[in-house]
Amino acid sequence: MAPNRFTSPYLRLHQHQQGYKALQLLRHRPFLYAGLALFAVFFFFRTTGSHKYLSFAEDKHALPKNTPLAVWDQRAVEVKRAFIHAYRGYEKYAWLHDELKPLSSGFSDQFNGWGVTAADSLDTMLLMRLDGEYSRALAQLSTSKFLLPPETKFAPFFETVIRYLGGFLSAYAISKDPPLLALAEELAVKLDPVFNKYKGEFPVYAVNTNSGAVAGPDVGIVAEMASLQVEYLYLAKATGKKRYFDRANAVMKALAKTDLHKTGGMMPTKWNLTSGVPFDSHLSVGAQADSAHEYLLKQYLLTSKTDKASLEMYIRATTHIIANLLFVSPTRRLLYVTDTSTATFEHAGRPTHQMEHLSCFLPGLLALGAHTLPLDALGLDLHALGAGTGWAARGYEAVARQRSLKETHMWAAAGLAETCYTLYADQPTGLAPEVTVFRLGNSAAWGMDKHGNWMEGGGWRWIDEVEKWRTGGAGSGTWKGRRLPPGVGEDTPPVVYTERERVQGTGKGRDYAAKRTEYLLRPETIESLYIMWRVTGESKWREMGWRIFQAIERETRTPVGYASLKTVEVSPGIKQDDMPSYFLAETLKYLYLMFIDEEPFPLDTWVFNTEAHPLPVFQWTPAEKDRFGILD
Ligand SMILES: *[C@@H]1O[C@H](CO)[C@@H](O)[C@H](O)[C@H]1NC(C)=O
Repeated sequence: MAPNRFTSPYLRLHQHQQGYKALQLLRHRPFLYAGLALFAVFFFFRTTGSHKYLSFAEDKHALPKNTPLAVWDQRAVEVKRAFIHAYRGYEKYAWLHDELKPLSSGFSDQFNGWGVTAADSLDTMLLMRLDGEYSRALAQLSTSKFLLPPETKFAPFFETVIRYLGGFLSAYAISKDPPLLALAEELAVKLDPVFNKYKGEFPVYAVNTNSGAVAGPDVGIVAEMASLQVEYLYLAKATGKKRYFDRANAVMKALAKTDLHKTGGMMPTKWNLTSGVPFDSHLSVGAQADSAHEYLLKQYLLTSKTDKASLEMYIRATTHIIANLLFVSPTRRLLYVTDTSTATFEHAGRPTHQMEHLSCFLPGLLALGAHTLPLDALGLDLHALGAGTGWAARGYEAVARQRSLKETHMWAAAGLAETCYTLYADQPTGLAPEVTVFRLGNSAAWGMDKHGNWMEGGGWRWIDEVEKWRTGGAGSGTWKGRRLPPGVGEDTPPVVYTERERVQGTGKGRDYAAKRTEYLLRPETIESLYIMWRVTGESKWREMGWRIFQAIERETRTPVGYASLKTVEVSPGIKQDDMPSYFLAETLKYLYLMFIDEEPFPLDTWVFNTEAHPLPVFQWTPAEKDRFGILD
């Protein structure tokens, strides 16, 4: 776990003071005045120069509108080349191990040592028609017995499910190669002891696949306890075996019966696994929570929209997110999603105004829901869903007052996706930092703005601003006459600080500070851009994807692969020695899907697991319903 320190502004302040001291020294040396004057002239031209650079940045910002089909085909080829480069490096230097170390040409074994990059890459290789690579990987993986090497004590259940099990199942769904299903089953059997500790409901953190011993804290993390349903439901379908259905169903039932009124109908991050009830009221769509919310919608879609309880939970969660976790920044009106500070389950936390790169999957999820669900004809009453949630009921009412739930979800999706992209475009590397804080850490960011709006921390609560806009800009008048609500389609040019501005802390126009500046080759923004492109058909989303791909090529490529960056604020990027398997499973897959013309996995007939492994939507047959005990 990373230390929770707000490092960047401190550094900036420190460096700024150093510069100030140097100037004070100079003041005592009159003979340098002439030099200083010269410096001032130079400085003036430098400023003019950087101004010119800014307008250049604005021009560069304009996304092309009519990129020809042939160019998109070429871009897809380039992504495929990038995949081949990364995978060949893995085959050459890290084969049979988990991940490639792209700087030292070494390997790491952080995910059980079963070759996670190969397993995670299978379906991408099928998609890109890399038959040789696929056959080699399958031949090797087929011999796996899923036993841990002596130095590894436990296999973490969640990561093993989403990367390995999801990888095998998706490749099986696409290729129907029988060894893949056998592998998936063998792995599921080895993992099964995780369900024995807590009433067969939620899994415990990890299992030793050699001995069956399990380990993990009694307080579980919601993403790790509740992100197995999609994989296990498909495994049940593919094998016809009830026990896998039971594993998924137990989790879905346990979630559905939980009283979430204290957290506005949203699942908090920590749960007491013994009692199966929430342990805190930390609300987040980022680390430790993300895929639990994602799977509420995805388990509903995968089983052809039959599990009404999951749908209701998805609507509750997204309503509370839209009403309470979305804010709009005062400077550039960037829509962002935040979390709440950790609090006991009895007390709601306050918004932290942090936004994680991980949370950038949310725009894609909202767009997927708006695309696949009849959001305005669900037969669910938001007022009734919100009743009994105490203070949170106001949020349900505010969302219910909007003219269309589908429109509201799409607006939120578009605004958030634009912000996720802006966080890339703002950096000298063109790549987004891991965590940002929409509060600049100085008192000027607090209080009332010039229109008399109360700024809570870094920004305005989005739903309140939408309400003002909808009712004709009552109060501030800020939003009068806009076609879209605040935070959506703002089309603000990026603000790229020069090295000097960054070091001295003199840059202006940013709405946030980078709290953690690394770029870990993560997929979430690209995933959302892909879904926005498919759902809206607007080419701007895939043009954003192309910009990001170019930045990945420019800043992260090494002779043998691609490397995470220590910081996105310095270009050329300062690399670190890892290439996560999800870079091949997700980041490059979504880029490739975004640039090819066809849509091999249409969003209404395939569901991507949280590691970007597509699984086909299915229906239970009457016989399966009978055998599994599924009631209509
Ligand atoms: C979890 O719940 C059980 C049963 O109610 C209780 O005995 C235990 O103390 C709780 N654990 C924690 C960490 O609060």
